[in-house]
Amino acid sequence: PLEVFDMASALAPTNIAVVKYWGKDAARGGNTPINSSASLTLDPNDLRAETVMVASPELRSDELYLNGRKVDVKGDGTHAKRLRRCLATMRRRCAKAKHPPRSSRATSSEELSRWGVRVVSRNTFPTAAGLASSAAGYAALVRCASELYGVRDTPSFSLSATAREGSGSACRSLDGGLVAWRKGCRADRADSKAEQLFDERHWPDLRCVIIVASAAEKETPSTEGMQRSVATSPFLTHRAEAVAEPRLLDLQKAFRQRNFERFGELTMRDSNSFHATCLDTFPPIFYLNEVSKRAITCVHAFNAAQKRTRAAYTFDAGPNAVVFCENEAAADAFAALAATCFLGADLSRRGLRGLTNAPEKL
Ligand code: PMV
Repeated sequence: PLEVFDMASALAPTNIAVVKYWGKDAARGGNTPINSSASLTLDPNDLRAETVMVASPELRSDELYLNGRKVDVKGDGTHAKRLRRCLATMRRRCAKAKHPPRSSRATSSEELSRWGVRVVSRNTFPTAAGLASSAAGYAALVRCASELYGVRDTPSFSLSATAREGSGSACRSLDGGLVAWRKGCRADRADSKAEQLFDERHWPDLRCVIIVASAAEKETPSTEGMQRSVATSPFLTHRAEAVAEPRLLDLQKAFRQRNFERFGELTMRDSNSFHATCLDTFPPIFYLNEVSKRAITCVHAFNAAQKRTRAAYTFDAGPNAVVFCENEAAADAFAALAATCFLGADLSRRGLRGLTNAPEKL
C-alpha cells in the first residue's frame, strides 16, 4: 500500500451561468474569455464535486480517478491536459514558497512540489451533461491543491486564474452567491478573474428546479463548440461586443433589488441568445432537445397564466433545464414543469424506442 505523506480534501458546488461565457480569445490562451459572464453558485449540499489529493514520494507519476475510473493523465485526453496544467501552476507556486505547509512531511516546499499526487474526484450529478460538472471539478481541484501546497491568493497570483486554466467557468465556483467573471482589460488579461457580487445570503428566497432531460454526455464539448462559434458565427461577435456587458450590469442591478421579474427575463434572454449563437455556428450545434423545448414553452405559459415572470429557465451546454423561481412560486412551478416535462421525457423515450426497433409502428 501507498504510504501517504500529505493529504487534503475539498469540495466545490456547481454554478449555473445567467450571462453565459461562450468564446475563448485564441491569441491569449489559458481560457481567456471574449465576454464577461455571471453565474449563481448552487448550494454545495446539492450538486458538487468532492476531491481528495494525496502526495507521496512513492508516487512516481500523478494519478487521477474520476467518478471511480482511472484516467490516463499522461495522455492527450481533455482532463489529462487540464489536470497537468493546473497542477503545474500550483507546483510552481508551491516550489517558490519559503516553507511547506505546517502539516507537511516534506522538508521543503520544493521537495513537496516534486512528489507525485493521486487525485480522486467524484461528482454528485451527471458528468459532462451541461450541469457544469467541470466547473465544480476544477474548482474543487484547485481548492484542494491550494490546501495541499499551502498556496494562497496574492496580488500577483490568483486561484481564480488557475481554476480557469482547468475549465473557464470553474473560476466562478470558488465563491458562493452571484459571481461575475470579468473578461479583463489588461493586455495580458491577467485581470480576467471571478469576483463575488452578492453572497448567498443576499437573496435567500431564490430556488431552482433542475430537469435532467438527458444524463448522456454532450456531443459537442464546450471547448470544441466555442472554437467553432468563434470561427463561424457573426452573431457571437455581436453578442460578445454589444450584448453581454450591458446585460451583466442590468442583471447585477436586478439582483441587488431582488427584482425577480427583471432577473428572470434577463436570464431567459441570455440563455436564448447563447443557444441562438449555437444555431448560428456553422455547422450548427444543438444542445437543446425536445424536453428542453417543452420546458421553455411551459415556463412561458406558466408566466403568462400568472401575468408576471415567476419562473425563468436557463440551459448551459446541454439539454437540462435549470428553472429559477422564488420560494413562493416553487411548488406551482414544479407542478407545472412536472406535468409537462416528465410527460415529455417519457414520450421522447418511447419515440426513440419505436424508431430503433419498429419504425413501421410509429
Ligand atoms: O467552462 P466551460 O468550458 O465548461 O464552458 C462553459 C460554457 C457554458 O456553460 C455554456 C456557459 C457558462 O458560462 O458556464
